Amino acid sequence: MSILKVARMGHPVLRQVAVPVKEKEIKTPEFQQFIDDMIETMHEYEGVGLAAPQVHRSIRLAIIEIQDNPRYKEEDPIGLQVFINPEVTVLSDKKSSYWEGCLSVPGLRGLVARPEKVKVKYLDRDGKAKELVGDGFLATVLQHEFDHLNGKLYIDSLVDTTKLVFEQEFDRYFTKDENEELDD
Ligand code: NI
Repeated sequence: MSILKVARMGHPVLRQVAVPVKEKEIKTPEFQQFIDDMIETMHEYEGVGLAAPQVHRSIRLAIIEIQDNPRYKEEDPIGLQVFINPEVTVLSDKKSSYWEGCLSVPGLRGLVARPEKVKVKYLDRDGKAKELVGDGFLATVLQHEFDHLNGKLYIDSLVDTTKLVFEQEFDRYFTKDENEELDD
């Protein structure tokens, strides 16, 4: 296991459209090891998600985990999930807003409105076809992660640029009553 280096905004890998994972590659020890390294990296930085391009691999793979995280106690827990070649369908016209953060954009938070309910079709780490429906915070985490696979960062989708702030100022000037935080 090893902790991987996280690409920061400005690194071209974050702006590439990632390529699909080949199904025959999924069960190889190298690929499984890479998934484990991503999990360890996400835990190290206390993220709720991580996409492969953030650790310099431009492939369609992302992980999420919303549990045992002191920063998100109030959110419904979602155990560790591995998404390979995810395809998202929006299920709701309504949007919900969350203050997002990103390990690739350290020190900042931004308010983003996204569809509040989505369905994801994907392969799990055993290569099995799965589906997941997520709403609220989970829907936002899923969309944030899968945006990474298309070369997008949350700052591209801000409600407006006055809602991009440093973490310290966020804590000082923005209440958390209406919106939750997201770090991935
Ligand atoms: Ni991110």
